[in-house]
Amino acid sequence: MIPVCRLEDLPAGEAVRVETSPPIAVFNADGELYAIDDTCSHQDASLSEGWLEGCLVECPLHAASFDLRTGRPTCLPARRPVRTHRVTVEDDVVHLHLAAEEGTAA
Ligand code: FES
Repeated sequence: MIPVCRLEDLPAGEAVRVETSPPIAVFNADGELYAIDDTCSHQDASLSEGWLEGCLVECPLHAASFDLRTGRPTCLPARRPVRTHRVTVEDDVVHLHLAAEEGTAA
């Protein structure tokens, strides 16, 4: 479990990149928190720098879109999903639970 930031530092519509290996992006999508691998499965763009719309994030490089709930791309050019990770909030601190640690890689 990795502490990410205070909840107040991740307002709705924002994302934060966690420098794990590989890096992970944590999003606040209208109050719901999601985490996916930060690196787009098409090339190497950082999805935390993409555009958030509802539960979808659009890659800043070639505009593939990923569903934050499943990690699956919803349009080309990305074809492969990114991993999803669990996010919890304890004492107003956002925590990341790596899929690899939990054995729940999507
Ligand atoms: S790097 Fe994300 S769509 Fe190309």
